[in-house]
Amino acid sequence: MMEMRPKLLCPSILNLAIDNIREEVEKLDATDMDIYHVDLMDGTFVPNFGMSVRELEMIRRVTDRGARKLIDCHMMVMNPHNYIEKVAQAGADIIYIHPESELIPSATLELIQMQGKKTGLILNPCTALERVKDMLPITDYVMIMAVNPGFAGREFMPYTRQKFIELNSYREEHGLDYHLLLDGGATKEIISDLYHNCGVEGFVLGKQELFFQEEDYAACIDRIRAY
Ligand code: DX5
Ligand code: ZN
Repeated sequence: MMEMRPKLLCPSILNLAIDNIREEVEKLDATDMDIYHVDLMDGTFVPNFGMSVRELEMIRRVTDRGARKLIDCHMMVMNPHNYIEKVAQAGADIIYIHPESELIPSATLELIQMQGKKTGLILNPCTALERVKDMLPITDYVMIMAVNPGFAGREFMPYTRQKFIELNSYREEHGLDYHLLLDGGATKEIISDLYHNCGVEGFVLGKQELFFQEEDYAACIDRIRAY
């Protein structure tokens, strides 16, 4: 019987319209959600622009006056080491980097640690375990993308399921303790399968389950906890 870790529910703020992002973050803050997921993009590492350090600072201010939730920053930028200090100062608690975005990703993880923040590695659908396994002992959070990065609202690519299984087995076999999470395409069926069968505890939530639903955020979060 697999040990069940508590779910980590991570609303993807990219899904919110810029017009009312602050009010929506205030509503999210009052729920039982766990970690804000903030997508930074540079238009080079991925063919799109996402959020910026200013939105990160705004979310930090809102939650510091509210429930004091954790914030993660998903850096879809080339050479993220140039921006770690800025992102840390803006209030990210967990900083995810893509191994392909750096010549020496392990040095960037060390930089994140030196800022007193939690380290995160985020793998594209085609990034092999082999590429990151030596860095796993210094990684607190491992996120696997089940969609190609840069856009919200895409469908879960089924071949990525095997990578969750590998990262979960690797964690057990090597006595490591990183959190394992999904970014992209999280539906009820996917969340339930990955949580119960593949040792995945964290889920980035988008339009499929959390945003633009008939129920309010609190009811959605409760519903997802029960999947
Ligand atoms: C995609 C982003 C995700 C995105 C996921 O590049 O990293 O955070 O919001 O959205 P959904 O859950 O809609 O696929
Ligand atoms: Zn993301």
